[in-house]
Amino acid sequence: MLWPFDGSYNVAAGPGVSFDRIGGGRWCFAGRIVLGGPFLLRRRTFYRCARAHGFDFNPDRRIDHLDCFAWSDHGAVPAESWAEVPAAFRSHTSLPPPWDALFAPLQTGKVDELMVIGQIGQSLDGRIATVGGHREIINGPDGIAHLHRLRALVDAVVIGIGTAIADDPQLTVRQVAGPNPARIVIDPRGRLPPSARMLAAGGARRLIVTAEGAIPSLAPEVEHLALPAAAGRIDPADILAALAGQGFRRLLIEGGAETLSRFLAARCLDRLHIVVAPIIIGSGRASCTLATIAHADDAIRPHVRSCQLGMDVLFDCDLSLQRRPLGEAKKSM
Ligand SMILES: NC(=O)c1ccc[n+]([C@@H]2O[C@H](COP(=O)([O-])OP(=O)(O)OC[C@H]3O[C@@H](n4cnc5c(N)ncnc54)[C@H](OP(=O)(O)O)[C@@H]3O)[C@@H](O)[C@H]2O)c1
Repeated sequence: MLWPFDGSYNVAAGPGVSFDRIGGGRWCFAGRIVLGGPFLLRRRTFYRCARAHGFDFNPDRRIDHLDCFAWSDHGAVPAESWAEVPAAFRSHTSLPPPWDALFAPLQTGKVDELMVIGQIGQSLDGRIATVGGHREIINGPDGIAHLHRLRALVDAVVIGIGTAIADDPQLTVRQVAGPNPARIVIDPRGRLPPSARMLAAGGARRLIVTAEGAIPSLAPEVEHLALPAAAGRIDPADILAALAGQGFRRLLIEGGAETLSRFLAARCLDRLHIVVAPIIIGSGRASCTLATIAHADDAIRPHVRSCQLGMDVLFDCDLSLQRRPLGEAKKSM
């Protein structure tokens, strides 16, 4: 059997795997360059080619982008067997089903040693908060539990100072079993009050990232990283490099909109989990703001899977094809 493929061609109804054109007539498969131009491929050749490039997939059970999967007929998220997931995740052993489908892709980065996951909860009209919003609850219980699962899997959670001040979050894992990650705030001017709940003692590391020259008022056990800034902006790639230097490998960028947008614009996210709640807010903070584009053709078009989380819907966006490797020269902020 022969079939053609182009950037959007889904190779077979069964495997659901696609190639992407990455310029120069080259083709990329799961983030790796595999072919020098458009081809007709035999199915067996396709599998051999994919495996030769280290992509391990099982055509019978893989779910891939543009696929939609549900935990059950009603979208109810299962509770069983979660307790063993955080430890298995960290030790790089396989995760028990059904958690493997959603979380195994977060175990290892495709681009470098880091796995940087953005997460945002938004309304149907793309708002993450009302106009004056403080500690707004946008998502339903299953959407919130998903956020806590992500926290339980990463080494550190990162927020911007806007969120730290508006919401005063604890950034702990409370809805599911799992360890608390380190808590990090990007606060270029050192505005975080020492009373912030994310600074509370409790075993997890706490870190504040400022611009060089800022002097935050901190308890001695709170760590401080001072990084170069241009017009008050620290390149997200510099933040990642500094955090990698502190031993963090898996990072959850938890918002708010400004922080997430800067990481997205700087091509510093491997994955973006957008959890959409079935509500329309109509005004308020948009989930992401990027530079103006002239045409929809220029939009970021990640590989996306969707998954029902109770009443919410998770869009799991794979951004690894555009992720800037750690240490690459600065291109955007
Ligand atoms: N629905 C959700 O999932 C969700 C999640 C989190 C937050 N929120 C909501 O989002 C709102 C806050 O979002 P926000 O966009 O206003 O604030 P934010 O993203 O939390 O913080 C933005 C600020 O953080 C600092 N910052 C972040 N990245 C930086 C970088 N690369 N370099 C230098 N400084 C950096 C800057 O501080 P300076 O201003 O000092 O320059 C920036 O203005 C709140 O209403 C909160 O409730 C919603």
